[in-house]
Amino acid sequence: MSNLVIVGTQWGDEGKGKIVDLLAEYSDLVVRFQGGNNAGHTMVVDGEQFISHLIPSGILQKKQCIIGNGMVVDPGVLIEEIDYLIGKGIQIDPDMLLISQKAHVIMPYHKAIDAAREGCGKSRKIGTTGRGIGPCYEDKAARRGIRFIDLLDEDFEKNVRGVAEEKNFYLTSFHGLDPIDVDQLLRDYEGYRKRLAPYVSDISVLIDKAVRKGNRILFEGAQGTHLDIDHGTYPYVTSSSTISGNACCGSGIGPKRMDSIIGIVKAYTTRVGEGPFPTELFDATGDFLQQKGAEFGATTGRKRRCGWIDMVMIRNAVMLNSLTGLALTKLDVLGGVEEINICTSYMYRNQRIDHFPVSLKVLGECEPVFETVPGWKEDISSVRSADDLPENTRNYLQRIQELSETPIDLISVGPGRNETIILNHPFK
Ligand code: GDP
Ligand code: IMO
Ligand code: MG
Repeated sequence: MSNLVIVGTQWGDEGKGKIVDLLAEYSDLVVRFQGGNNAGHTMVVDGEQFISHLIPSGILQKKQCIIGNGMVVDPGVLIEEIDYLIGKGIQIDPDMLLISQKAHVIMPYHKAIDAAREGCGKSRKIGTTGRGIGPCYEDKAARRGIRFIDLLDEDFEKNVRGVAEEKNFYLTSFHGLDPIDVDQLLRDYEGYRKRLAPYVSDISVLIDKAVRKGNRILFEGAQGTHLDIDHGTYPYVTSSSTISGNACCGSGIGPKRMDSIIGIVKAYTTRVGEGPFPTELFDATGDFLQQKGAEFGATTGRKRRCGWIDMVMIRNAVMLNSLTGLALTKLDVLGGVEEINICTSYMYRNQRIDHFPVSLKVLGECEPVFETVPGWKEDISSVRSADDLPENTRNYLQRIQELSETPIDLISVGPGRNETIILNHPFK
């Protein structure tokens, strides 16, 4: 197997960063294909924690990392991230990090609009990360976006002035806010342009060459399947396509090139921001998972909502992504929970449903149908072989495989790179 896509199956924060960091050791290139610095991907190596928002999680393994065309990039944040990693002794030369010419640039007006919409009470609050992600993707679709190739172009100032005029009209007239200082914007972006220009290139050509050479490529998704703009719990979603199909569009490679697709599944469910969550817990068990799992957003620091694993969602993710395997993370966090609930289907007005409903009104009324299994008391974080897991833990894993009809390839029992049990190595 040479090309592997990794996606989240739930509402993000499943532990994608950890698994990508782990598997990057066996790959030549790591490509992020969507999202921006709404993502926060955590890697823990030798007890030290790194959180990456834009740079692919292969960077600690010193692999060539690519910011794909499907991403939206805040250049100031990217420079901070580069400097942070350099400060940690990680070399970030232009041949180690490449930015697609076609990736879109987040501008100050995108962030201002994101914050204005979330705070004004005039439109539906999504609970966004406030990083300007949605407004940047809007401009991409409206063909008014600024790409990296445009940032480097001599007409940059003219293009930005044209777009900023409309944005300032909206910010001042509709929201009653101060306009963006365009001269300041141009000065800041001139600095970003000089700093980032060496990293910008036509990445599809590079990826194609790598594929033809037989190199191994790891495609790193951000967010999760149920935050997908088309297939998630719309409108409580992000503004990009988060599923495996977009690994192709977001990096400029055809679908025949993909070999395997792993879905990251947290052993329970979490969600940040607004939106329905059928298995959400509002009791002491929810608090236990939140605290033991340290469920705080890696980007915004917000408390994550917690609930039981929802196999209706996982089956939906298997279908939407054609998952070939699962990586089950945070299994250690369930240790000490006396009885574990697994949601196997929903009840909607006395009717049992097995599929994830499209209508949020229906989803909001769905009651989870649980199968209750016995938990385990042991601390499993030092276990490195599935045979050494407690029987109840193995039974829990078995039920997840049966209900998802998908094999579990990896099990994560702690945040550290080595706190992992590999059952079926995707690159071997
Ligand atoms: P991502 O956005 O999918 O990369 O996930 P985040 O990094 O936002 O959140 C996952 C959190 O769980 C991070 O703090 C990780 O360090 C941590 N983590 C990942 N895997 C495990 C695990 O198996 N056990 C525990 N206890 N923590 C984990
Ligand atoms: P990673 O890659 C969890 C959520 C936000 C909000 C919604 C829209 O770390 O898993 P946006 O700023 O994208 O317009 O916000 O999506 N969200 C995430 N939740 N993990 C993420 O990324 C997320 N990225 C966005 O909380 O509900
Ligand atoms: Mg995260």
